[in-house]
Amino acid sequence: MTRHFLADDDVTPAEQARVLDLALELKHAPYDAKPLAGPRTVAMIFDKQTLRTQSSFAAGIAELGGFPMLVDGALAGIGVRESVHDVARVLGRQAAMIVWRTYEQRRLDEMAEHAGVPVVNALTDDFHPCQLLADLLTIREHKERLAGLTAAFVGDGASNMGNSWLLAGATAGMHVRISSPEGFTPEPAMVERASKVAAGTGGSAALEPDPVMAVTGADVVVTDTWISMGKEDEAASRAEVLAPYSLTTELFEKAKPDAIAMHCLPAYRGKEIDAEVLDGPQSVVWDEAENRRHAQKAILTFLLEASG
Ligand code: NVA
Repeated sequence: MTRHFLADDDVTPAEQARVLDLALELKHAPYDAKPLAGPRTVAMIFDKQTLRTQSSFAAGIAELGGFPMLVDGALAGIGVRESVHDVARVLGRQAAMIVWRTYEQRRLDEMAEHAGVPVVNALTDDFHPCQLLADLLTIREHKERLAGLTAAFVGDGASNMGNSWLLAGATAGMHVRISSPEGFTPEPAMVERASKVAAGTGGSAALEPDPVMAVTGADVVVTDTWISMGKEDEAASRAEVLAPYSLTTELFEKAKPDAIAMHCLPAYRGKEIDAEVLDGPQSVVWDEAENRRHAQKAILTFLLEASG
């Protein structure tokens, strides 16, 4: 059976832990494992902007002995020039795996249905699961565990990062609190989906509208841009509503004294996060960025193996 990584809960808690173990191994010996030797090709398609995702996948695929083939989303015109279904069948004949950043989750689902090779979500409107693997790896490095820790996400909880934190954090047995204003909270169905996973891992998933309550006592405090890709038209109104959820120095001080601050980047200092927090001693954002490569190498390796 072909395995895909389309959302954070496409791996079981045990599989997630295995992927993170492997990521750590690969971080310590980056050139030892060559599951893509040949080189086998991995197609990378970007329908939205990218820096970390493109560079970390390209470097990681090369380290695994493979060839990262960049397919220009604008040139391919997937779903416009030809259907997702037809593109999937064509790329599935060229590449051993497909990594895609796009808009609607259903586009990715359709790609996975027809490609015949593993498909990886490199960010959609709904999820950013590769970022969460990198984030969990980063937390493990700094805190030596995941289960039982409390993570507070403040800001646009209705975003891909809010959803992914719920699902991935619950899978890891963490207590995830999402703190967002009305209109920016994750769908109730997403909280329910995460809560079901959490019931099996000892974690929890909750909404806490008060940012001070959410951050108080947290081990990990997370935020993300208020203006996700595709939402640029709403910039002004979002900035106004989300301002009370800014990760300021004052808000960060409510967390545990040894809490870490996380942001998937790009960051807008003075908006969703204070420069003092982002660039401060408790920030782990550059580790997160580096860990994209190690975590993605691990999930690619896992999917190849699990798909037989
Ligand atoms: N929520 C952000 C994440 C950027 C990596 C966005 O979708 O633009």
